[in-house]
Amino acid sequence: MQTIQVGLNSRSYPIYIGNGLIANADLVLPLLAQPHVAIITNEIVAPLYLDPLVRFFTKNGVRTHTLALPDGEANKDWSTLNRIFDFLLTNRCERKTTLIALGGGVIGDLTGFAAATYLRGVPFIQIPTTLLAQVDSSVGGKTGINHPLGKNMIGAFYQPKLVLTDTDTLRTLPDKEISAGLAEIIKYGLIRDLPFFVWLEENISLLRQRDAAALAYAISQSCQNKAEVVMADEREGGVRALLNLGHTFGHAIEAGLGFGTWLHGEAVAAGTILAATVSLRMKLISEQDLARIKDIYQKAGLPIKAPNLGKDKYLELMGSDKKVEGGKMRFILLKNIGAAFVSSEVPQQLLVDLLSAP
Ligand code: NAD
Ligand code: GLY
Repeated sequence: MQTIQVGLNSRSYPIYIGNGLIANADLVLPLLAQPHVAIITNEIVAPLYLDPLVRFFTKNGVRTHTLALPDGEANKDWSTLNRIFDFLLTNRCERKTTLIALGGGVIGDLTGFAAATYLRGVPFIQIPTTLLAQVDSSVGGKTGINHPLGKNMIGAFYQPKLVLTDTDTLRTLPDKEISAGLAEIIKYGLIRDLPFFVWLEENISLLRQRDAAALAYAISQSCQNKAEVVMADEREGGVRALLNLGHTFGHAIEAGLGFGTWLHGEAVAAGTILAATVSLRMKLISEQDLARIKDIYQKAGLPIKAPNLGKDKYLELMGSDKKVEGGKMRFILLKNIGAAFVSSEVPQQLLVDLLSAP
């Protein structure tokens, strides 16, 4: 098992990465403020992983309530959030009841936001079961839901007490969800870790084949990168924005096509190619760099061509991005593979040309 520490003073927590951790979740017990947990999961993950976790808690004298929500990004919304509140209130969950998110990023984001707001804040633990959640969404405390007018528009920064990553859960994940996770893994290489990017270029097919050692390395290297960024800038006043490479375009793709039509990781991949193309057209990176980036995303099984939403739709959706400042759009661009920066200087005409024929 590997441990990565996210150091945030009183909000610090460990990320444990290993196999067989769900059925033997001893690491969770010392963190429970009282022996009472509410596990939020979904109808896909419940039949796979809920029973062993519930059995473990019951064996250890922990009172356990469970809620399995409908699956999918389209349910990351107010009405599903309200179902969590109904469940918590009906079961008389208290301030010292720990909420546990068992699932992918959708369950993690919903549960984290419920934990941030129920009784003005209760403890919560992330048990991520998708590659994307294990390398990104379970770490760093961004929680929230979508609004029909924009992705992740309502939410809170709220750190978990612990992230328990059981890599065995990746065995049941569909291939396209492995690819979606790879999109966020490649992101760390692109924005701040050239040696990791080079390692990914060499190992991308092993990762797609779910080689256990390669996956464990990629997960820990990603969490290490994310932890360092979050420790430097927990609430995205500066460097944390770099984690949004490709997301300004990607979130527009997700919202524009309807949440759940493209996977988040797929939209991030196509969005990253658009961000890299902007970087090329602004003479920041070379044709060769762009070709390398396209090549790795393609080998990861991800789309490199964005859908044609129409430039007006793109610009409208991107205009409500969370990075907009003083009405001005801000983009994450590359100055090299392994180095990104925030720019509010992308010429409007360049965007219009790019988004007219993405
Ligand atoms: P997801 O939660 O929808 O999970 C993907 C699919 O895999 C779902 O159908 C799910 O039921 C299924 N699944 C989960 N675990 C499984 C398993 N072990 N075996 C088989 N099937 C399994 O999607 P995701 O890619 O995990 O997360 C995407 C979400 O995360 C988006 O809403 C995105 O906005 C959010 N996100 C948040 C952050 C953050 O910092 N909070 C970062 C990145 C992404
Ligand atoms: N996934 C972007 C962030 O956590 O900041």
